[in-house]
Amino acid sequence: MNVSDSEIVASILTDNGYENTPEVTLADIVLVNTCSIRENAEDRVRKRLHYFKSLRKKRPELIIGLLGCMADRTKTALMEEEQLLDLVAGPDSYRHLPQLLAQVGSGQKAIDTILSIDETYADITPVRIDSNGVSAFISIMRGCENYCSYCVVPSTRGQERSRDAGSIVRETRDLYEKGYREVTLLGQNVNSYHWKNGDEVITFAHLLEKVAQVSPMMRIRFATSHPKDISDDLLLAIGRNSNLCKAIHLPVQSGSNHMLGLMNRKYTREDYMDRIQAIRRIIPGCAISTDIITGFCSETEEDHLETLSLMEWVGYDAAYMFKYSERPQTLAADTLKDNVAEEIKERRLTEIIHLQQKLSLDNNRKEIGKTFEILIEGKSKRSDDQYFGRSSQNKVAVFTKTNAVPGDYVHVKISGATSATLLGEVV
Ligand code: 5AD
Ligand code: SF4
Repeated sequence: MNVSDSEIVASILTDNGYENTPEVTLADIVLVNTCSIRENAEDRVRKRLHYFKSLRKKRPELIIGLLGCMADRTKTALMEEEQLLDLVAGPDSYRHLPQLLAQVGSGQKAIDTILSIDETYADITPVRIDSNGVSAFISIMRGCENYCSYCVVPSTRGQERSRDAGSIVRETRDLYEKGYREVTLLGQNVNSYHWKNGDEVITFAHLLEKVAQVSPMMRIRFATSHPKDISDDLLLAIGRNSNLCKAIHLPVQSGSNHMLGLMNRKYTREDYMDRIQAIRRIIPGCAISTDIITGFCSETEEDHLETLSLMEWVGYDAAYMFKYSERPQTLAADTLKDNVAEEIKERRLTEIIHLQQKLSLDNNRKEIGKTFEILIEGKSKRSDDQYFGRSSQNKVAVFTKTNAVPGDYVHVKISGATSATLLGEVV
């Protein structure tokens, strides 16, 4: 999400005569795009800002700005008390950046953190930053109204709004013509995508089919799905189109109904299991990944064991796993106690991570002997003689280079596996 936002910012500023530099010490303006989702993300931003402040001591003309989710929440502390910032712009204010920068140029501080009900930056063609030229992100909606009790996003990114479907298809086509072969459609809850085109209502399943038709050679991924909204229609669309990737990220957060209730996730363990069974039935061979929060308010050992048992039952291919971190202006911060001791959170997180490593390794070992179509992304980190790429199931495969180049598809027969990588050779 943040990469996608930075690409929108880069586009707006490039159109206004600014240039991007990869070297921060050469920059006249440093804009830090931020995320508030967990406290350690905020801590890292603060550290970076102190580093930029030290650069500003040597070069007083350096402009330092804060963008994104932290903008509104922390503007007083970071701008007025700590004197770290000249400019603050929230996630819906990027179009105003040229004016805000001009304001700073004339010696004033500039702040705009007003959230919008309709800004989707639909007409802005993002400037791809750090791109491998093969895969890109496309933002299809903004905001979220699910109000999961632990989550700061509804308060930092505002109301949910979907982007014009035609502009999403055009952006995909444009990327295809530039040589890209994979796009990931991004939103906080893509399953509730909804766009009205005259009398036609375009749901996420319709959107996926439209995007899939751009070219059979263009792979389509998406994130993130909410278990309460992932419909059979969507799964059937994925089953019908070979370029809609066979990988679904379905954050479960917890395996305990008590925790799911307190988290305001609006589904039960049983509902979630029903959706997993639907995925297995409708899209055989589909990889499933998840997000898990451990140590949420009043989580007991039994709740924790329920999370572990659900992980085993699903047999996730991958997971992002977090300790609960209380965020201000959330339902949980206002109404629940963050009362699981830090050591317990840590121990439970370690158990979850170990289990996931085992599940990932077991799943990857099952792929040995099979052949996958791999989209080559680039040179492997370990060796210049090897490429890496991904299967439709989003598994990374490393293999000896052939004449093929990044952006090509090759068939790779898997001969070995670690918990993170498949190893093989082109056949
Ligand atoms: N503490 C820990 N993890 C969180 N996430 C969201 N909010 C919090 C929080 N307060 C995790 C969820 C979500 C992912 C993007 O971040 O698992 O799915
Ligand atoms: Fe946060 Fe829940 Fe919305 Fe995801 S669905 S962004 S976890 S409120």
